[in-house]
Amino acid sequence: MKKERYLITAALPYTNGPVHIGHLAGVYIPADIYARYQRAKGRDAIYICGSDEHGVPITIRAKKEGKSPKEIVDHYHRLIKKSFEDFGISFDNYSRTSLPLHHRTAADFFKKLYDKGELIEKETEQLYDEQAGQFLADRFVKGTCPKCGYEEAYGDQCEKCGTSLSPTELINPVSTLTGTRPVLKKTKHWYLPLDKYEDKLRKWILEEHKDDWKPNVLGQVKSWLDEGLRPRAVTRDLDWGVPVPLEGAEGKVLYVWFDAPIGYISSTKEWAQKTGKDWKPYWKDDSTKLVHFIGKDNIVFHTIIFPAMLMAHGDYILPDNVPANEFLNLEGDKISTSRNWAVWLHEYLEDFPGKQDVLRYVLTAIAPETKDNDFTWKDFQTRNNTELVGNLGNFFNRVMVLTNKYYDGRIPEPGTLTDRDREVLEEIRAYPGRIGELIEKFRFRDALASYMKLAQLGNKYLAEEEPWKKIKTDPDRVRAVMFTANQIAAALAALGEVFLPFTAEKMKKMLRLDEQIKWDRVAEAEPLIPAGRQIGKPELLFEKIDDEAIRRQIDKLHRAKKAQSGSDTAPLKEQTDIETFGKLDIRTATIREAERIPKAKKLLKLTLDTGAGPKTVVAGIAEHYKPEDLPGQKVVYLANLKPVKLRGVLSEGMLLMTENAEGKPVFISPDEPVPDGKQVK
Ligand code: MF3
Ligand code: ZN
Repeated sequence: MKKERYLITAALPYTNGPVHIGHLAGVYIPADIYARYQRAKGRDAIYICGSDEHGVPITIRAKKEGKSPKEIVDHYHRLIKKSFEDFGISFDNYSRTSLPLHHRTAADFFKKLYDKGELIEKETEQLYDEQAGQFLADRFVKGTCPKCGYEEAYGDQCEKCGTSLSPTELINPVSTLTGTRPVLKKTKHWYLPLDKYEDKLRKWILEEHKDDWKPNVLGQVKSWLDEGLRPRAVTRDLDWGVPVPLEGAEGKVLYVWFDAPIGYISSTKEWAQKTGKDWKPYWKDDSTKLVHFIGKDNIVFHTIIFPAMLMAHGDYILPDNVPANEFLNLEGDKISTSRNWAVWLHEYLEDFPGKQDVLRYVLTAIAPETKDNDFTWKDFQTRNNTELVGNLGNFFNRVMVLTNKYYDGRIPEPGTLTDRDREVLEEIRAYPGRIGELIEKFRFRDALASYMKLAQLGNKYLAEEEPWKKIKTDPDRVRAVMFTANQIAAALAALGEVFLPFTAEKMKKMLRLDEQIKWDRVAEAEPLIPAGRQIGKPELLFEKIDDEAIRRQIDKLHRAKKAQSGSDTAPLKEQTDIETFGKLDIRTATIREAERIPKAKKLLKLTLDTGAGPKTVVAGIAEHYKPEDLPGQKVVYLANLKPVKLRGVLSEGMLLMTENAEGKPVFISPDEPVPDGKQVK
């Protein structure tokens, strides 16, 4: 069947934390390259995503932080959406599952299955916390693992031995809400009989798609099917989620993995509303190619459960492919939010402003397409310095500089082309097909490597032809060479848009090329950039990253991890009493002036307004704060500490500070205006 439109989705991220490089490498960048490519091919393609705002982990996070789930999802939705925008992830729509539109869409979906008799109603006994007055989701129960005896196992899984559990299997279960022992209580839920779709799924995936789906995906599907499918509950006793649209189902919501994939549909609807288009052909017409980009932990949901839901519903198409990636590790260790072992996108941009494409490049080059792979800062530096600066940036810059130098930036008339020139021009025209074929097969690493070959070709060509030597002796020859080299540069700008959108835009601007160059245009015989075109001045595309910047990142990682575990495990100091504490005179003050202390890298000399005249205090924060940012900062300090001389400066007190998760010292200051000199007691 000829595909006329593309519906590209990327897994909806949970809004219980920011996004990190693993997310980007595994899902959002590959899908973005694919979407950009389809658009450049001139195809009708939309790239759909949104925030997954339901589920138990969000309610747990909210409890922990003393906030409402709504506050948590609002915060992370905003942060995640901004990170994606900052990195040029070209969603046509980024929605969220807390929208009424989504609630309606998900509830209608459920209702349709219910009305068609596709759901099984079942009463079971589940753990109930009598003190909290609620049923306990798996993650709210802890107890002893029946397999290995680990005492801190969760209701869904033992993290010690990895066994997946159900909460009723735990020995000595305890509710994490109240610490009490839960009781068994009857509750009614609705189940999707997955077993009913087993044969259909097997035929559809393991036969029809055995050649075009990735082996890692087929492997997981096969093992699930071989184990045999069972009915699966699609509702939960919880107060956060899409309410079950049935009478007598108060206090119950749809299981998050039931509502979230329907989020793809509601996000498409939202896109249609915003653009005045029709969403239905994208979901209901067989000539749509639906592609789900996901990480490997999502495979079963996108190949078995969601397709079974779609089959049960009957109005929708099935995915054409589900290209799942494996996991990205970081410096040899699994990326983990709870252990704070991650590179967060918003922090990367603070440390490397404007270098989105460097990260996009590296994450594409090392994407875990067939097996888990490792991100290291050292490799990041090497790839930047040798591949981006040394190869791509170097070639492009040489073309720009020489064209400006020899011809005042006007593309020269080529005159007579040699066989070598013609060979190079022909070679350029082969690239769109070559790269495109790899992208269509979801081989983004190879596609990027192929793209970089074009820059290599350019460097090799210039090195062979040596226009900088021939300009004196054979200016006619140089015109042909520079004309040809500019065609390579233009092709790099046009094709680069799918991998390195920010860089490609700079290249196009410098070459005065159209914003939108169709992919296949590069394959045409007509030169991409005509003789006589006036181009702009050279600007560097990439710059070297030095060892110091890399060392800072590695330090930051280790500090953040230490800070994270430090807060949990540092033992309390020995007991004290109120009299001992009363000997300390702790007061409020405001920093009036701050200056560096010569030859002391870590120290700042601060002058405090204490309410009773100025006082000098030396603080070890020079590596984290600039003196000019400090005046006006409210502080709390120990006022009756015996003065000591530090590096020749008499310090008359001590600032009281704590550390944030990255180990940076942060001030403790009153959260409402307080006069200087007030006691803290
Ligand atoms: N929120 C899930 C995760 O981060 C992915 C949901 S994908 C969807 O693992 F299909 F359900 F939307
Ligand atoms: Zn165990």
